[in-house]
Amino acid sequence: MFFLDIAGNRMLIAVIASVHVFINHALAVGAYPLVTLMEWRAWRSGDAGADRLAYRVTFVLFIVTTSLGALTGVGIWFSTSLIAPFGIGSLLRVFFWAWFIEWLVFISEVILILAYFLTWKRWREGSLKKLHIGLGAALSVFSWFTMAIIVAVLGFMMDPGGWLADPSLFSALLNPVYLPQLAFRTTYALGVAGLCVWFMLFFFTEKGSRLRHNAVRMTSGWMLVWVVPFIAACLWYWKVVPDTMAANIDVALLTQRFQNWHETLATIMAATIAVLVLVALAGRLRPALMRGFILLVPFILGLWLLGHFERVREFIRKPHVIAGYMYSNGIKVADLPVFQRDGVLPYAAYVRHHGVTPANTVEAGRDVFLVACSRCHTTTGINSVTSKFANLYGEKPFNEPALTAFIETMHTGRTYMPPFPGSEAEVQALVAYVKRLQTESHIILDAATMWGESKTDRSGVVASPAAVTTE
Ligand code: HEC
Repeated sequence: MFFLDIAGNRMLIAVIASVHVFINHALAVGAYPLVTLMEWRAWRSGDAGADRLAYRVTFVLFIVTTSLGALTGVGIWFSTSLIAPFGIGSLLRVFFWAWFIEWLVFISEVILILAYFLTWKRWREGSLKKLHIGLGAALSVFSWFTMAIIVAVLGFMMDPGGWLADPSLFSALLNPVYLPQLAFRTTYALGVAGLCVWFMLFFFTEKGSRLRHNAVRMTSGWMLVWVVPFIAACLWYWKVVPDTMAANIDVALLTQRFQNWHETLATIMAATIAVLVLVALAGRLRPALMRGFILLVPFILGLWLLGHFERVREFIRKPHVIAGYMYSNGIKVADLPVFQRDGVLPYAAYVRHHGVTPANTVEAGRDVFLVACSRCHTTTGINSVTSKFANLYGEKPFNEPALTAFIETMHTGRTYMPPFPGSEAEVQALVAYVKRLQTESHIILDAATMWGESKTDRSGVVASPAAVTTE
């Protein structure tokens, strides 16, 4: 099993996925329809300068979406299968055909991106230009379609709806969060594409030029169109978030340390949206007022909003990775009683010790930590268990009964953490390990533990008891 002990496992997925989502939403889903519209308007008014501008914006979209966009898309598979193989495995089994179709659509999208960009200069005249604009429209539809499929998977992870009773692809696709989240992401993407084009206008147009004014006016109007649908989609989405998840919002918005900041942060986010709307209004009515930095800053604010939204969305469904079905540590809700009875180590794949003995307590505790806590905590890095326990109980040597009591009830007090998935002996081993970490913070994981030695099951972190017992 892979363990990134300094930044945390979650961080690897978060960094790759956030970059991918920025590129997908702002540049692919949102910006291709906008440049197609820019191209169409330039063609209708015979404005060669505006056409050249749309071409240059497309050049940037073309480079970024087909390089960093595609790489980070693959990176999501890479990082999730490394860190949460059971979670991604379950999603793959449920959404196999949906993902297969998405892959075909994605390939078509890439071909359309290439065709749209590479034919721009050659297909200039008459019906060829119309065909070219048609390519842009088709590309816009395909890039939205890939998002529409993936959002079904994201919604499923928050609330699988009827799927737990009726485990079919169809019931999974039609999860309760699907349409509201799709509406949210679609309107966000379309709106933020305007900010993205503003950003590029700073580099591609001259201050005070007619070209810049016209483009600012047009993109501002485009953004204003999406404001009301976006706010409506936000409210709709929030309404379908299950209550148990909404209760996590306090820890989801910021870490516990900044608990008092939650209201401030929520106000800042609302104010940011209000400022963006005002700037768009100004851009529509008085494009000449738009100074250079006003073109640059809003895009960065828009990305920040999306980044924070993703953090909240990822966090809010804790302690599950797939609501009601699998905990974030890869343990199925249905398997929990068996692990609590027999211990989790006998069933774990990438661990050294398959049971706790007086001779191996600390090492077995390390294995328990890997299986039960490492998806969310590091040993001594970011969000480390040692610092978390020190916050609760002070820096003095940890008290065993206190740690034991905490671990045994960790889910009741803090519902965002899964219940401890192991036996009594494993709790004691984990406590011994955490105590050792406090004094010897250098005992980190060696290669054998990281990559596993077990022969029982190499498909994931913890084998399902059913899989093991039938062997
Ligand atoms: C699903 C992710 C997840 C898992 C798995 C998890 N935790 Fe946590 N834990 C969290 C989060 C999130 C916090 C709150 C962090 C913050 O905001 O400061 C937390 C907080 C804590 C705290 C501090 C609680 C407080 O009130 O200050 C302790 C102690 C802790 N975890 C121990 C553990 C141990 C031990 C394990 C493994 C048996 C574990 N956690 C597994 C997510 C998790």
